[in-house]
Amino acid sequence: MPEIALVLGSGLGEFTKNLNGIQIPYSEIPDFKVSTVQGHKGSLFFTEIFGKKLVVMQGRLHFYEGYELSDITYPVKVFKKLGVKTLILTNAAGSLQKELVPSDLMLIKDHINFTAKNPLIGKNDDTLGERFPDMSDIYTSSLRNLVKTCAKEEGICLKEGVYLMTTGPSYETPAEVRMFGLLGANAVGMSTVPEAIVANYLGLQTIGISLITNYASGISSEKLSHKEVVEMGNIATEKFTKLVNSIINKL
Ligand code: HPA
Repeated sequence: MPEIALVLGSGLGEFTKNLNGIQIPYSEIPDFKVSTVQGHKGSLFFTEIFGKKLVVMQGRLHFYEGYELSDITYPVKVFKKLGVKTLILTNAAGSLQKELVPSDLMLIKDHINFTAKNPLIGKNDDTLGERFPDMSDIYTSSLRNLVKTCAKEEGICLKEGVYLMTTGPSYETPAEVRMFGLLGANAVGMSTVPEAIVANYLGLQTIGISLITNYASGISSEKLSHKEVVEMGNIATEKFTKLVNSIINKL
């Protein structure tokens, strides 16, 4: 029974490459939906690192694939039932400012839900969580300090910022990117927020880490492609693996 759950974002699927464990395809788990995105596998991987039991979600589900937010966040509820206490959410994101450079890792300190959707809409199950959950510390501040200490010890440059989620799947226009910057966001992506909302609701401690794969539209003159996102994931795998291992060791 795992105590830590790790959700791998686009291009970060290599994390489990050298680990031994048990792999269960989503297709074999009741009510799990299967990810359709290239670069995302679709299985839960149960393993142990530094004596800590860990479940890794290899490939996440996205709203833009046509799933309901309840489908996307169902795995988080399963993790809670399995006994998970800490959830590590990772993603690929576009930078909204020059200082946040592709290949940087950004610790998520807060988020902006720009989807106009909420995974908690519907009848509330009071046995799981409150109807109106507080959202003031969903990326748990004590864990953010722990992650910063890990990064320092490993010699990894770690930025910190606000992640904004759009539904996707189209990337943003330059005008939208300017607006998101004005709203106080530092990075933009198409995931993580629903899972973080449900994790907070369920009382899980949550860490969010973005791999900055590109400058968002209009910040640089280059056009965006999913290929570029996946490639940057591969480039940053070593740094990312080092940081996540260090976090798991210290949790
Ligand atoms: N925008 C939205 N999602 C993303 C981006 C981006 O620029 N890069 C990686 N995921």
